[in-house]
Amino acid sequence: MDNPKFTVPVLARLKFIRTMVMQKLGDSKKLTEPETYNYSSEEAEYGPFKKNNRDNSGNKLIFGGAYDPEFSEEEKKIFIKEFNSLTPENYMKWGMLLKNNRLGEYDFSNLEKIESFASENGLNIRGHALIWGKVPGMGYPVDLYEKVLSDLNPRKRMIEIMDNHISIIINRCRGSVSEWDVVNEPFELSGSKFDVNPFYRILGLDYIKQSFWTARSIDPDAILVLNEQFDDYKGTRINRFLDLIDRMLEEHVPLDRIGVQSHILFTKPAIHDLYNFLKQLQERGLQFEITEFDIRIGLFIRSDDPFMVQANYIKDFCQVCRDFPNFRGITFWSQFDSRNWMDNSMPFSLLSPNAPGLFDTLYRKKPAYIAVASSLLNKQ
Ligand code: XIL
Repeated sequence: MDNPKFTVPVLARLKFIRTMVMQKLGDSKKLTEPETYNYSSEEAEYGPFKKNNRDNSGNKLIFGGAYDPEFSEEEKKIFIKEFNSLTPENYMKWGMLLKNNRLGEYDFSNLEKIESFASENGLNIRGHALIWGKVPGMGYPVDLYEKVLSDLNPRKRMIEIMDNHISIIINRCRGSVSEWDVVNEPFELSGSKFDVNPFYRILGLDYIKQSFWTARSIDPDAILVLNEQFDDYKGTRINRFLDLIDRMLEEHVPLDRIGVQSHILFTKPAIHDLYNFLKQLQERGLQFEITEFDIRIGLFIRSDDPFMVQANYIKDFCQVCRDFPNFRGITFWSQFDSRNWMDNSMPFSLLSPNAPGLFDTLYRKKPAYIAVASSLLNKQ
């Protein structure tokens, strides 16, 4: 199976160029990992979350990371020790489950490796993602649009193909996956427009509702999640997102939980904006989960101790989440600085240092880890 390249849409590119120009001076400062980090030996013992994963009301909290079966033995060891949940970084995406990334036969060999790793080590699996309209060949089959368009009734054909995929995957993973990102990123990466992907082109917004209804009909007990990226938590994008949720709820679409990705790449959002957004989710009776957290250390590079300032921001972020009774957990997308998606994806690879992880390049716990552990385990 090929690994299709991730490319960023034009608006996000422009935003990136602006940020790069603005930050270049600061960013080009070199990041040096210290000999020792500034936390106590008691703090160093915080976690692991396997044993400590309940909030004050007894709800199980997810503490997870993005997982790749290609992780080294050392990375796997840390993963098993520290986390209680994994999200397959790429291998559960529709295109990646198909031979040659095209409609037709599935190849579950990577998924099988992930499932064994999870079951052998008592890890939850987040199903990511059934329907994702980005990255042709990865998010969806590379030939999907052309196949659907060549049909006399493209609308009907699209629904058949989507329903078929959703049912094959949910049925296949019954027992190993109880939570699904049913639709991932209905909005463009940046701005407040819906992503004009093949699903939207053929079905309009119905593709979102359709996917949730199909998922629910196949597994009535699964937790169904709408997952979206925000780079701040206010403004038109948030309002449009809340409008979308309201429409779904009005139409009784089976939406259980909101996945708030939280890749923090360009500027750091104000914590009170995060609070206001989460409050709106709570008012709608929806659970939420931070599903893909990572924050570039480049945003703090001008400070004396970027590792500490990064950690302090993460601590504030986690504390706000934790205090909501509808919070269900947090998953990191780049837990290891030694391998993180930003260093390998344009344009972020040019924005180094990224160092968004909880463990540094020598696999030592960063202050960021202590920050998460202390806030989620209520140790102030
Ligand atoms: C990213 C992976 O981390 C990369 O390896 C891949 O090249 C592209 O996808 N939002 C999502 C994730 O929902 O699936 C994306 O993951 C990052 C943005």
